[in-house]
Amino acid sequence: MLYFLDCGDVRAIEAAFDLYPLAGVTTNPTLVAREKRPLRELLLDIRRVIGAKTLLHVQVLGVDAETMVAEAHRLRDLVGEGFHPKIPVTPQGLKAIRLLAGLGFSPTATAIVSPTQALIAARAGAAYTAPYVNRLDMIGGDGVGVVGEIAHLFAQYELPTKILAASFKSVQQVHAVAMAGAQTVTLAPDLLPLLLSHPLTDSGIAGFLADWGKAYGPGRTVLDLLPASV
Ligand code: E4P
Repeated sequence: MLYFLDCGDVRAIEAAFDLYPLAGVTTNPTLVAREKRPLRELLLDIRRVIGAKTLLHVQVLGVDAETMVAEAHRLRDLVGEGFHPKIPVTPQGLKAIRLLAGLGFSPTATAIVSPTQALIAARAGAAYTAPYVNRLDMIGGDGVGVVGEIAHLFAQYELPTKILAASFKSVQQVHAVAMAGAQTVTLAPDLLPLLLSHPLTDSGIAGFLADWGKAYGPGRTVLDLLPASV
């Protein structure tokens, strides 16, 4: 499982990369627009924070394939290695995916809500497909079920395309897509600590600290008890 951060906020990206084993950042037009910053400045800031080669998915806005391809080139010139153009699964988007794959890009097919969309995007040459789990669940759909069917289809037809499951509001959704066969997930910053959060973990750690403190003194660590030899 690879974890991506779904975020355009540079401070939140920096904080998350400091703590979590993240493979990269995904953005979408809404997340970028929320920052209210010049696009070049924002993307270069994200690149600076995550490092030169870390994966960075940025969505194109054109509605025709030629514009999408040109946008992908412009974005790659800016953010360099590890760039993945996110392309919505429209007919023009599918053409752009095919053209970009032929040009050596590794496109991410996005805004996916059905296995049918994912399968044809994979055939067009998408490196990743991004099914939107919570957006489906919100309207009575089965986001995890869709991810499971995509995983089944990719395995059945021996397609190398990966599932980058997206749009989560709960830890259970994240766990369920991992069980269903998604190789990667992209999560908003506030979901990351929730992946670890459990009252039994908290009480277990509190118990260890209390027992240790009684024996060696509160707040003392191994460093206090085993001073470095000089
Ligand atoms: C993925 O490509 C999208 O950026 C994203 O995960 C959508 O998430 P949302 O439904 O929380 O907006």
